[in-house]
Amino acid sequence: MKTQVFTMLGKHSKIFFAASIGFLILAIVLASWGFQKVVNKQIQKNVQLENNSMMFDKWVKMPMPLEFKVYVFNVTNADEVNAGAKPVLSEIGPYVYKQYRERTILGYGPNDTVKYMLKKHFEFDAEASGGLTEDDEVTVVHFAYLAALLTVHDMMPSLAGVINKALEQFFPNLEDAFLRVKVRDLFFDGIYLSCDGDNAALGLVCGKIRAETPPTMRKADTNGFYFSMFSHMNRSESGPYEMIRGRDNVYDLGRIISYQDKEIMPMWGDQYCGRINGSDSSIFPPIDESNVPKRVYTFEPDICRSIYAELVGKREMFNISAYYYEISESALAAKSANKDNKCFCRKNWSANHDGCLLMGLLNLMPCQGAPAIASLPHFYLGSEELLEYFKSGINPDKEKHNTFVYIDPTTGVVLKGLKRLQFNIELRNIDSIPQLKGVPTGLFPMLWIEEGAEIPKSIQDELHASHKLLSYVEVAKWLLLTIAIVIAVVATVSVARNTALRNSNSVSFILGPSVTEVNKGLH
Ligand SMILES: *[C@@H]1O[C@H](CO)[C@@H](O)[C@H](O)[C@H]1NC(C)=O
Ligand SMILES: *[C@@H]1O[C@H](CO)[C@@H](O)[C@H](O)[C@H]1NC(C)=O
Ligand SMILES: *[C@@H]1O[C@H](CO)[C@@H](O)[C@H](O)[C@H]1NC(C)=O
Ligand SMILES: *[C@@H]1O[C@H](CO)[C@@H](O)[C@H](O)[C@H]1NC(C)=O
Ligand SMILES: *[C@@H]1O[C@H](CO)[C@@H](O)[C@H](O)[C@H]1NC(C)=O
Ligand SMILES: *[C@@H]1O[C@H](CO)[C@@H](O)[C@H](O)[C@H]1NC(C)=O
Ligand SMILES: *[C@@H]1O[C@H](CO)[C@@H](O)[C@H](O)[C@H]1NC(C)=O
Repeated sequence: MKTQVFTMLGKHSKIFFAASIGFLILAIVLASWGFQKVVNKQIQKNVQLENNSMMFDKWVKMPMPLEFKVYVFNVTNADEVNAGAKPVLSEIGPYVYKQYRERTILGYGPNDTVKYMLKKHFEFDAEASGGLTEDDEVTVVHFAYLAALLTVHDMMPSLAGVINKALEQFFPNLEDAFLRVKVRDLFFDGIYLSCDGDNAALGLVCGKIRAETPPTMRKADTNGFYFSMFSHMNRSESGPYEMIRGRDNVYDLGRIISYQDKEIMPMWGDQYCGRINGSDSSIFPPIDESNVPKRVYTFEPDICRSIYAELVGKREMFNISAYYYEISESALAAKSANKDNKCFCRKNWSANHDGCLLMGLLNLMPCQGAPAIASLPHFYLGSEELLEYFKSGINPDKEKHNTFVYIDPTTGVVLKGLKRLQFNIELRNIDSIPQLKGVPTGLFPMLWIEEGAEIPKSIQDELHASHKLLSYVEVAKWLLLTIAIVIAVVATVSVARNTALRNSNSVSFILGPSVTEVNKGLH
């Protein structure tokens, strides 16, 4: 009777042992792979661009506005500059605007893409601008005038004098190369430019502008134009963009594959420089912690190119451990420092250069059809040579002038990011032009913009909650593993004990069992 019980127990302990080993293996698989898979699937579900995902509605219509700040370089010694002195600049700003963004979905492509138009809308934020108002008067380098004149001067220098006469009629009060203007008109409302006049050259200028209509010009109801720096952004949609939705591969989420139906920006005439890389900076894929990208790319239609920020490391932001990326020298480096940038070199910028600019500059001529030069604010990361032109007012400072982004690795959400860009134009000494015959030649900044966002408290809390959930999953994983190990150990011990029992049993059996021996085994 008793021997039978032992045999049965022994049988069960074997099953128990087998089950526990199976459970252990299952737990190991789940802990090392399965849980992660489930979690990743869930994250993907939330971040991919699909009607019902958490991200989608926020992406279509941003729940809160971005901050768009403008800093103007007021020229405080214009008369002296006209006589050849070094410029003294005083930075005024920020003039803060709220930028609202909305996307119109045009359709979905076969390869996991969505096609959309992007609409921005600006409103002045008087409170955030402090004491500054849009009625402030500033003196800035006359961007539109110089753009027109330099274009002519580069193509047909002999015509510059004649065209200049026409420009004197076109632009009001054109005494020198500086524009005295209300901030409101410079940014959005516009300066009226008149095409009324019997001057043939004026007809030529107006005809050319009418034909090409650069973004900074808009037709007036009368026979003329308005010039302003940003109103085109407020009026018109940009796009269409074609973006990957991240349903097939979440690590491709947000990658733009075409802009205005082109996969390569044609103006650079080059596969590398024209390549559209990265997102529109509103959305990034989650970061795979075992393969953290060294660079994040964004595509900037305003400068017709992609640009990248380089990984610096992990940093805390809003109590979330994020990856911090920052713009580096090589993105805007001269070709001597970064050979890859050679294709951004363009002739026609200036008679004084071979078309390859100094460190830290980007020629916008191919992009905007105007001889504008982009840089980081205050020529941060730019050539020292650029700074020598000024008496004062240009002070590059990493904290104030770099461009960066903090990305939450689990979701790819931008915790905080700032994009900064300065617009410059060459002030060129030209003897035959009365307005320019005394000025020193150099690259003159007009203003710089900062576009930035940080997630509001509500989304911070959401992220904290999901990170907490993830840490619970992590705990659950270890708990499961621990339980499995404990059970396996118990099963092993039990099997070992049973085997030992059975052994003593079988020995007893061979030797002839005695009741006392069996009792001993029981205890
Ligand atoms: C998402 O929206 C598009 C366009 O409105 C529609 O064609 C598609 O069926 C929707 N998908 C889902 C899963 O609802
Ligand atoms: C800009 O500088 C001019 C002098 O050139 C000055 O009259 C004007 O008040 C300054 N503008 C602001 C907003 O400080
Ligand atoms: C989708 O991808 C396939 C294979 O990569 C390609 O041949 C096809 O042209 C793509 N379709 C579109 C509309 O981009
Ligand atoms: C942008 O355009 C809207 C009308 O479309 C206008 O109400 C608003 O004032 C404009 N913003 C600025 C800063 O001029
Ligand atoms: C685009 O991205 C690829 C890698 O993703 C990189 O090799 C290439 O240099 C980038 N091109 C530009 C113009 O940034
Ligand atoms: C950040 O997290 C720590 C510990 O999790 C907490 O003690 C601290 O209060 C948090 N700080 C903020 C600003 O939320
Ligand atoms: C630059 O100028 C040359 C002639 O000097 C002209 O052939 C070329 O098209 C111009 N390039 C651009 C981008 O305007």
